[in-house]
Amino acid sequence: MSLFDTRPKVSVLVEQTGERYACATTESLLQGMLRLGRKGIPVGCVNGGCGVCKVRVLEGRTTPLGPVSRAHVSEADEQQGFTLACRVAPATSVTLRVLGKFEKPFSRRPAVSAAAGSES
Ligand code: FES
Repeated sequence: MSLFDTRPKVSVLVEQTGERYACATTESLLQGMLRLGRKGIPVGCVNGGCGVCKVRVLEGRTTPLGPVSRAHVSEADEQQGFTLACRVAPATSVTLRVLGKFEKPFSRRPAVSAAAGSES
């Protein structure tokens, strides 16, 4: 990628975090985020197969860059704005909501015993 990236870009807003980034109209929503070293949309296969980058486009329009896995986005879902961020490019400025699961299996803190620290 050239330092002087002159491709037309539009603004992408991630609803939950309020984070905004510029995405070229020829790159996927996910590539635009990654190019800028941003976080927000979960990253997986980057090839339309795993579904972790599933988003709902709340405002704006997108153009498809390739097939979207029906295992992750049904036709009915697609009609309601659901898509995979690695498979669509923004055609206009876009506001999106991240839907991917953020299960963090190690994020739970161990239960603290009521008796802990009461020994003398
Ligand atoms: S990153 Fe796997 S489907 Fe988009």
